[in-house]
Amino acid sequence: MILRRFFHLTIVLVATVFSFQSCFEKEQNQQSDKTPELGKSSIREVIAAMKPEEKIGVIVGDGKFIIARANADKNKEVPIANRNSKPVIPRLGIKTTALTDGPSGINKPPAPEGAKDYTYTTAFPTPNCVAASWNLELAEEIGKAYGNELLEYDYDLALMPGMNLHRDPRCGRNFEYYSEDPLLTGKMAAAVVNGLQSYGVGATLKHFVANNQETNRRNYNAVISRRALREQYLRGFEIAVKESNPWAIMTSYNRMNGFYTAENPELMRELVRDEWNYTGLFMTDFDGYGDAVAKVRAGSNMLMGGNMQEFNELKEGLKNKTIDESMLDECLVYNLEMKLKSPGMKGYKPSFKPDLDAHAQLAREAAAEGMVLLKNEDNALPLKNEKKIALFGKIGYHLIPFGTGSGGVRSYYHRVSVNDGLNAAGFEVPEAMQQEYRDYIQKIIRENLVPPYFDNPKMRKDNGIKGNHAPPHFRNRLVAFSREKVMTRQAIKKYEAQTDVAVITLGRSAGENYENGYLPITERELDLVRNVSEIFHAAGKKVIVVLNVASVWGTVNWRDYADAILLAWLPGQEGGHAVADILKGAVNPSGKLPDSFPMRIEDVPSYKSFPGIPPENPYNSFYEDGIYVGYRYYNTFDVPTAYEFGYGLSYTTFEYADLKLSATKFTDKIEVTVTVKNTGNVAGKEVVQLYLAAPATNIHKPVHELKGFAKTKLLQPGESEQLAFEIDKHALASFWSGKSAWIADKGDYEVQIGASSKDIRLKAIFNLPEDIVVEKVNDILYPNFNLKELTGK
Ligand code: BGC
Repeated sequence: MILRRFFHLTIVLVATVFSFQSCFEKEQNQQSDKTPELGKSSIREVIAAMKPEEKIGVIVGDGKFIIARANADKNKEVPIANRNSKPVIPRLGIKTTALTDGPSGINKPPAPEGAKDYTYTTAFPTPNCVAASWNLELAEEIGKAYGNELLEYDYDLALMPGMNLHRDPRCGRNFEYYSEDPLLTGKMAAAVVNGLQSYGVGATLKHFVANNQETNRRNYNAVISRRALREQYLRGFEIAVKESNPWAIMTSYNRMNGFYTAENPELMRELVRDEWNYTGLFMTDFDGYGDAVAKVRAGSNMLMGGNMQEFNELKEGLKNKTIDESMLDECLVYNLEMKLKSPGMKGYKPSFKPDLDAHAQLAREAAAEGMVLLKNEDNALPLKNEKKIALFGKIGYHLIPFGTGSGGVRSYYHRVSVNDGLNAAGFEVPEAMQQEYRDYIQKIIRENLVPPYFDNPKMRKDNGIKGNHAPPHFRNRLVAFSREKVMTRQAIKKYEAQTDVAVITLGRSAGENYENGYLPITERELDLVRNVSEIFHAAGKKVIVVLNVASVWGTVNWRDYADAILLAWLPGQEGGHAVADILKGAVNPSGKLPDSFPMRIEDVPSYKSFPGIPPENPYNSFYEDGIYVGYRYYNTFDVPTAYEFGYGLSYTTFEYADLKLSATKFTDKIEVTVTVKNTGNVAGKEVVQLYLAAPATNIHKPVHELKGFAKTKLLQPGESEQLAFEIDKHALASFWSGKSAWIADKGDYEVQIGASSKDIRLKAIFNLPEDIVVEKVNDILYPNFNLKELTGK
């Protein structure tokens, strides 16, 4: 087996190198005496004119070392994530690719102190909030806004979208990704990429693959079965690659089944290039571990952020023949092809004036459309005659618009807090209360104390914290991670007497490098919710909780205290307006959960195996939950959730009717239609989900899986819309590892049309008379350990 795999791999490598060399030689012979120039001469001619060190210089760090040297300042690295590409090899017309981070917005450097004409970017709601809209047109519009800002701010490539699966709610980067479901993830990412790239700039899918945790992120080895990989962790990337052809893919830091992903030729060459026909560029994640020679041999084309060690390793590799120069040339083809596509190369002159007003409006609409109404007892929302609001919780006055780390937006224009939003919408919050909270926030900022979450020896060491004060890079964390303000019962009573309703905001930020996605409610917060609830309810007034949280959160031990709960996520810069729009009823909530909300963190299928062994610094992370990620687990094993995947309330009601299948016997595909009618009193949109329950004749399967979704337009009361779905062969198939094939079992398939994964409204059956081998794939990506995974009920 190993020999066979080696043989196959060798053929792929030799074939690539051979075809590469022959056309390279041919073109070299045709070359003229003139110095070639990128954009005017062929890429081959340009590469032929490069010296080996120049080649390495472009591959490692996209030229920043060459620039640094040209600046005669060898020690100083030129930051790569800045705007404007820079000439790397002027005589050949090669410039750097101007990159910037995402995915909540164009994350360019913040305004320098005192800058007058600084240009801002828009902070959109985070990807999981966008996914909760289940609205692909909206995702594409956001992609277009990114494209417009990139283009007009002189960037070529965005390091987004992030699209790792939400395997475990504790992962601090979940807000940067979409969902626990690969279909929703892949479709959302493809929509964003298509929108973004329609502006002639590029997107980067990241982090490929299995970067589902942050603990020991540069080194852990994710051990995943071939089936779980194909069906879950790779599937979203596969959809996005095939449906949007991103300019770049960023490999992850971690290892997967024994290899660093950036050093795995099976992953890049055999899977993505050979099976998925990908023609873009592979870049590594920034400053990861591993070996530069192995990376280039495996198919990584750009080693980012790049360092001198990698530069020297490649130089050494050429000398001792562990790498052939033709492999550098291969990298450069992808690299220069990307540069050729860049707007600068095409002579575009950026205006530095993207349509920020339109983007702010879009950010507001997107935030409102992604918010999920979790609870609404006795129609507490929308607010009716309640005009005076007692707004509790520091985060109500200091919105958390996005998470921390590279997925934040340092260049955002403003953040509209819930308080700002309520005021702008005509509500009144007692002035004394606003002042009390503003003072509290100012105190937090002034004192600048290390927030409790970071105040332990490990965090202190990791963040270089000495003494009691937080370092400057904690600017965006300080208020979010500091303690909640204590509100005495007396103070609560005082504000109750002046108002009609209580709104409590609870906030959680999260971010890169940390497993802080699911930090439980604190005693102070719980006290606040409990006391506000008792006092307001005793006065016959309602209590609304607004969750400004990064991702899935614990709700069970406090939710009974609230009449209504609005999950606002990290909603971007306009978040406060969007919350007010929903509380007021100007927008009818239509978001539904892209993730299951567990009853307890202990119920999560990866609870025991996350983040690996040993837990404080895991070397191996065994994905024992197999294909049973999220609702695939809860619904198959009858584990109750607080709120299930696909759940979300509306101010109106919808009736589902007329489920029709184009056939009851499957041949090639089946068309499904269903009619949705707004049966309530206000206009609203409805997300409709199509699940398929497949016969588990030969291998175990989840009770059902999402195979399609659609959202209605804004339906007026009484109005109907017919939605259409298509079920193709792939939707029927499961991955049989033993046969390296996607196979659909013969038997009866149940189509389930649901308002959520548990609220199935209509069902119909079709039959597949014979097994179908839908796709035979390469025999690759074996786990390097024997894995005991969950295999069905
Ligand atoms: C992150 C990437 C990011 C890169 C550049 C890395 O630490 O994992 O998502 O694009 O830094 O900022």
